Amino acid sequence: MTTAASPFTDIPGPGGDKYLGNLHAFSTDPLAFLTACSRRYGDVVRLGAHNVLLTSPGDVERMLVDRNAKFSKASADTRRGSRRQGFPRSTMNSDGAEWQAKRHRMQPAFGRTLSTRAAEVVDAQGERMLAGWRPGSPRTLQDDVSVLTLRLVTSLMFGDEFSDEDTAEIARLVAPIMDLSTSPVLLPEWVPTPRKLRIRRSMARVDRTLHALATSPAAADPERAPVLHALVHGDPEPSPAELRDELATLIMAGFETTNDAVVWTSVLLARHPEIAERVRAEATTAFAATPAGLARMEALPYTHAVVRESLRLYSPVWLTSRDATEDMEFGGHLIPAGTTVTVSQWVNHRDPRYWDDAETFRPERWLPGAPSAPRGSYFPFGLGPRVCIGAAVATTETVHIVADIWRRFRLELHRPERITPRPALALQPMGVEVIPREW
Ligand code: HEM
Repeated sequence: MTTAASPFTDIPGPGGDKYLGNLHAFSTDPLAFLTACSRRYGDVVRLGAHNVLLTSPGDVERMLVDRNAKFSKASADTRRGSRRQGFPRSTMNSDGAEWQAKRHRMQPAFGRTLSTRAAEVVDAQGERMLAGWRPGSPRTLQDDVSVLTLRLVTSLMFGDEFSDEDTAEIARLVAPIMDLSTSPVLLPEWVPTPRKLRIRRSMARVDRTLHALATSPAAADPERAPVLHALVHGDPEPSPAELRDELATLIMAGFETTNDAVVWTSVLLARHPEIAERVRAEATTAFAATPAGLARMEALPYTHAVVRESLRLYSPVWLTSRDATEDMEFGGHLIPAGTTVTVSQWVNHRDPRYWDDAETFRPERWLPGAPSAPRGSYFPFGLGPRVCIGAAVATTETVHIVADIWRRFRLELHRPERITPRPALALQPMGVEVIPREW
């Protein structure tokens, strides 16, 4: 750390209320609040007595890549809900040697073989979803796609042990957990808010379902269920509670985010018919010329660019926080140990300093030859050692589902004025009703 760093209290930022600070502004509209802070105060913004927002791509990279080891993700994440409230404790929210061992146990199962399998499984599951669609009959896109992405994650991670009823049950049970907002207020753990009670009840039932899964024949078979097998037979062997937490986390991390990515991409395509037409043309050729699998994915470069651009404008993960474990300097300011440091995909992905026409949906940005933006200005899957373990699988699934929907149907938005982003644990698209039309 340089000695010239200016004190924390000199960092510019909104003053907020005398007692509650910026809580009200943040909770009312966090996306608008963080964007306004970044535009008004610049690269380092003081959000509260122990909170800062970093907005320069260089600082995002320093935080998530170079200085990853100097931050705790566990303490920042578990504030949303602790273990006693039922919030799982897993690879996602552990640190140091514990995180390394957990990630190491799972990583080999997430190789190219899993992406290949994803490309095959998604084909049949997409077929199942779309078989129920009729031209002219409105659909709540979020509901349809969530069944599909949940089936995908369970069958990819854990084999075909989950019945449709189990899948629907898990979807219902994890909903209250996914609803956790990023409220910066920490009620003491013993305060029994209705949400916490719902989570605790949900987790008890999730427990039973996941315990059955962990002891199922699929768990013994690396071919049928590579991720489940890697977890159950890991070294060191996980305790039943650890195993339950990893399984629950994989389901939560994998299904809602992918669902949001597919739905937001479809909303953008519905708003941009000329881009949708190009996706349809590419997808029609790719599906006719290549069998289900990675080869088909490779035949969808434009659709892939569309998905990357959609992950820029509507990144399902919109906020990432860590706690500093030692004093550090960012942008010439001292950030003391214990400060919660936040970076926001929503803010950086739309920052006009780094993106031309930042608010415009323009997939061409991602085609070969287009100028590239700085690394820390685009991080839908995070950056550095804690980068999303499921990024390749999620991309394969999203590109494939989008291509499959749009080669068959042109989606018209029903009551488009109702569509809004809801920044909960993921950026949920609310109110997306579509009318499938024949091309
Ligand atoms: C479009 C879909 C997805 C998005 C946008 C997404 C995004 C992210 C992001 C931003 C992180 C890093 C968070 C941080 O730095 O604090 C992350 C971590 C993680 N993701 Fe994903 N994810 C997606 C799909 C998946 C899938 C399909 C799985 C697995 C089935 C998965 C499993 C995980 C896990 C286990 C971690 C924690 C990694 C670690 O801490 O070492 N994600 N994801």
